[in-house]
Amino acid sequence: MKKNKLSSKAHLLISLRKKQGKPASGSLLAKEIGITRVAVWKTVQSLVEAGYSIETTEKGYLIEPKNEKDFLYPWEFGENEKLFFHYKNTGSTMDKARELALRGVDSGSVITAEKQSAGRGRNGRTWVSRQGGLFFSILERPHLTIADYSLLSMVMQIAVTRSISSICGKKAYLRWPNDIYIDRRKVAGVTSEISGEGDFINWLTGGIGVNVNNTVPSGKAVSCSEILKQQISRKKILIKILKEIEVVKKTFSSTAVYSQGNRALASEWNSLADSIGAKTAVFEPENKDDNSIEKPGKILARGIFQGIDPVGRCILKTEKGTLYFNQGSVSLAFLNSGNL
Ligand code: BTN
Repeated sequence: MKKNKLSSKAHLLISLRKKQGKPASGSLLAKEIGITRVAVWKTVQSLVEAGYSIETTEKGYLIEPKNEKDFLYPWEFGENEKLFFHYKNTGSTMDKARELALRGVDSGSVITAEKQSAGRGRNGRTWVSRQGGLFFSILERPHLTIADYSLLSMVMQIAVTRSISSICGKKAYLRWPNDIYIDRRKVAGVTSEISGEGDFINWLTGGIGVNVNNTVPSGKAVSCSEILKQQISRKKILIKILKEIEVVKKTFSSTAVYSQGNRALASEWNSLADSIGAKTAVFEPENKDDNSIEKPGKILARGIFQGIDPVGRCILKTEKGTLYFNQGSVSLAFLNSGNL
């Protein structure tokens, strides 16, 4: 990420948080940030208006750590502030990401929302986006061919799975094509949209929804707070996922890319996958169930799930031979899991 000078808001928050509940005088803050005392006062006012509990005492300004809220404002991300766009309420962060892509914002931009009124999953299914969940899109301008578009999606899925496992202290699994499960309940989903020119991707948006502190729409889903039995910071999860995406990209960018796809990346995906070797049905989903938990419709094939190939296609070993399915409109049901 491209680093910039800290804004006054970002700098003030860092300075006050360092004091861990003790007051900092206006003149000390002015000196630290390099602005006037009046500008410090104005910055405090605008943060208070944004919802921060900053107390003004005789000895100066203070933030009581226990009164801190889980904000996702751009200035919470320090030197990367310019890459973050936050909406209180929007239709879908995917649409905002698209608008920003067309306006030419930088690759690596992150678009977050408190709530979405038209959150969507794969194939236009609904993603119910209640307060307390983490909803964001990442805009990327990768040097990839359209044929390889699924690689970035695989990177994001691996990063989300690793991050959620580490934060929740429980193994999370990937379910093809784009779901993340813990204890056989959906905790997160990843979707992506691309725009291309010729053979190449112009921009790609990855949309990630994680059930964090929100109530989930059905018993087939679970939130991180339900697993941890306590509320957890969305900001912490977001930062962890963004860092992990960079780690996964770095780890796999140098590994052999052969004609199309990435063998090592697919093998990492398979190591996190649910139900490899299970009896599986590939189906066309019938309905638009809440949070993209699909009900099986027409069955296209039955066989044994073998994981994914280097371009992210599902490999199914059937009696008639091996079949490959693109991440289009099909999904999987594992026949011993009682969902078919
Ligand atoms: C799925 O499970 O099908 C993917 C769900 C992706 C939901 C996220 S929430 C943030 C971003 N904005 C959307 O409208 N969708 C994605």
